[in-house]
Order: sequence, then C-alpha cells, then structure tokens
Amino acid sequence: MKTILGIFFIKNPFKTIFRRDHGRKDFAWPTRLKKAKLMDDKVVKILGYLAKTMLKKIKIEELHEGMMIVDLGRSWTNHPFLGNQKRITSPKQIQKLKDYGIQEVIIDAGGEIDTAPGLSEKDQNHASREDIAVSIESKWPSLQPSPGEPLVKEISFAQELQVAREVQREAHSIVRNYMQDIRAGKNIESKKVKLVVNQMIDSIFRNRDALTSITRIKGYDEYTFVHSINVCILCLTLGRHLNFSREELQQMGIGALLHDVGKMKVPAHILNKPGKVTEEEFAEIKKHTLNTLEVLGKAGEIPDASKQIALQHHERYNGKGYPYGLVGDQISQFGQIAAIVDVYDAITSDRCYKAGIPPHMGIKKIYEWAKSDFNQVLVEKFIQSIGIYPIGTLVQLDTDEVGLVYSINHEKLLRPKVLLIYKDLKKPYSSPVLVDLMEESKESLYFKRSIIKPLDPLKWNIDVDQYLKEAISL
Ligand SMILES: [Fe+2]
Ligand SMILES: [Fe+2]
Repeated sequence: MKTILGIFFIKNPFKTIFRRDHGRKDFAWPTRLKKAKLMDDKVVKILGYLAKTMLKKIKIEELHEGMMIVDLGRSWTNHPFLGNQKRITSPKQIQKLKDYGIQEVIIDAGGEIDTAPGLSEKDQNHASREDIAVSIESKWPSLQPSPGEPLVKEISFAQELQVAREVQREAHSIVRNYMQDIRAGKNIESKKVKLVVNQMIDSIFRNRDALTSITRIKGYDEYTFVHSINVCILCLTLGRHLNFSREELQQMGIGALLHDVGKMKVPAHILNKPGKVTEEEFAEIKKHTLNTLEVLGKAGEIPDASKQIALQHHERYNGKGYPYGLVGDQISQFGQIAAIVDVYDAITSDRCYKAGIPPHMGIKKIYEWAKSDFNQVLVEKFIQSIGIYPIGTLVQLDTDEVGLVYSINHEKLLRPKVLLIYKDLKKPYSSPVLVDLMEESKESLYFKRSIIKPLDPLKWNIDVDQYLKEAISL
C-alpha cells in the first residue's frame, strides 16, 4: 500500500502559515522562511506535525473504528459527515460511507489531525485571532462554487447595499406584523415569509457581504424583530458558504426568520425583564421553542426542516440544551447552524439592560465554546463566512490609523476592507476613507496597512452603527 507523506497540505503547505502575515506578503519556503526569521515555535510544531503525519489510501473494507479519515475525496455535501475529516467511532459510520458509494478513503495512520496544526489543546481554547485565521484558512480553502449553484451575476458590495437595505426593511415589517398577530392570538401564513426569504437569498448570491453588513446595525428597542432577521441573514450567509442548494436555503431561511416567534406567547413582563430572570421565569421563556413549533404547525406549508430550526436552536452539542437535551448529531444540521448563529447575534446585540460585545469578541467567544456547545466544524465555517474581524469591528492599523471593518476578504480573513476614521490615533479624517488591506506598498515587501488590534468603540466614543449607516447610504 502506498504511503503518502504530507500531501494533506496540497501545493505549498507553508503558504497558509504565512497568512498569519503581520505585514508580510506570502513567502516561498524554505529560504525566505529563514530570511524572514519566522522559524518560531509554532512553525517548528507544524513541521513536526507534518513529519508525524502518515497518510494512506485504503479500501473502505479496510476501514475500522479508531481510524482517522482525512479525506473522503468528494465535496462534503456528497457524503454523510460535516467535514472531510472524521474519526471513525462506530461501524454505523462505515456503513453510511458505503451507502454513499464511497470505495476508498485517505486516513492518517501516523498522527492526530483533528486539532488545528501547530496548536495545542490549550492553544485551541485560548487561540488568538491570528491562530484562528491560520487554522481556518488552512483547513478550509476558499470556496468553490458547487455544480448546482444557480448562475447569479455577482455584483459589488456597494452596488448591492441599497437593495439589501430594502430587503431588510421588508423583512422587518413582515416579522413585526407576524409577531403582533401572534400576540393577538391570530395565525400567520407562510407566503410572505417565503417571498422575503427568497429576496434575501438572491441578495446573498449577488453579493455575500452586503446583507450581512446590515446585521451590524442594531437597535435594542426592537431586539426580537432585528434578532430574527439577523439570525436569518447569518444562517443564509453560512448556508451559501456551505454550498447549500436554493431549496435548502429557503427551508433554513424560513425557519430562521420565524425561530423565535413563540416568544410572543411568553408574558411580556418576563420577556422584557431587565436583569436576571428567576428559575420559574426562565422555565416560561424556555417554552418558546415549543410555542414556535405550534405557531408554525398552524401556519400551513412550512417545511419540516424549517420547524427543526425553531425546535432545536437552543439544543447544545454537549446535550445541555433544551427542550430535549439532544446530543451531537441528534440535532439536525439546520438546528446546529441556528444554535451558533443565534448565540453569536444575541451576545453581540445591545439589550435594554446590557451592551452587546463587539463582533470580534463574539467570534472569539463562539470559537471558545465550540468544543462544548457547538459543532466545531460548523463554527469554523461560520467564522470563515463572516470573518475573523466581522463587519463593524473597530481596528487599529500599523499606520496608527483607526477604522471600521467594512467588507470581508474571504480568502484572507485578516485583510478586509476598512473605512478609515482617524489618521493617527487622534486626528479624524475630514470624511471616512475606504481602503483595502490587500493593497501593497510600492517600496517594500510589505502590505501597506495591517491590523494590529481591535479596539473598543465605547472607549473611542465611536457610534459604529451610525458610521455604517452613513457608509451604506453613500
Ligand atoms: Fe430562541
Ligand atoms: Fe433567537
């Protein structure tokens, strides 16, 4: 049997390492590696890891429990697992692969591969944004369009923004009306929801960041409406990133947009209570998943897959969620996605009693919780879809300029477009200036600008929503 050493990192495996580019361009290995004095601990660890990794192609009949699959040789949508890497823990999984017609797999016969290369478990738990970027960019190369993806002409972020705003307004009025109807004891009908979800899908296919950028503009007074729309947009953004079919996106979008409508049956004084709720009140709030299911059951023509989102968005991968305490893959894929997105939007949103955390902190929290609460593969895909520095993050650059992340570079997560506000940490620009962090300096090997660190907009007294609103209406 032929042993393949280190083919896991196809082409130049070291290229991804240098995406942790504190101002450097990608280097070729190994001469520039030494020149650039980058032989740090992490690189050494990765080299050791590669040396230990022994990849073998084996027949499906030779696969048994305990083996670590690193490549299934096909898109993840064409096999039963969420990613191409999976440790086999039961004969059932092998049977599933056979059912999908898979005849050969590549396994790692030498080392562990289910943690990000070069990162210890401790590092994984407390990884920096750069570590996360390296890990995600190396494990998940840029997305290839799937054969079934509709042919929609992509347009620029700026071109799509106006339309995206209209779509968001429409969604807002629909969700608001539905919630009022439910409070009044009326049934809702699904037609308008389907229509607006389709408009959202079209927008995301034309430009995957325009609608997402609007999720950053939040007002605490309308939390439940805005949250529902944001969860829908972020689910669709991730779904597109995962190459879901239009039908799957529709099912997921409908479920996401309506996932919390059952909250309208929870007494308002509990729902809007500032501060901590009592145990009894929390028990009442928890009923909203089953309430939503009941509402959707009466709405007619709501797909079962959409209902799963309503029912399962508070389930947790470790079994500690509600209403049923489902564990791992007992939770549907849509349920797993909605759980991640729901928490991310909730912790990054302002509430009447508490300010939300900035988006980059939200990403870090979700990444830390991935090991217990969520499906780790989906968390990494989610971060790749919205960026390490999501739209609206306030950042300081190595030029001492300060600005807001305006749109994402999905191939290089650390190099988004930034709307510059301050020139030198003190002096504001007369009007915001849009720059691309991919822009190179003519004089050196370096990029012109790089992010040094994210900043707290509260300390800088910067109203992120206002800046984004103005930028969007330009
Ligand atoms: Fe909920
Ligand atoms: Fe929610």
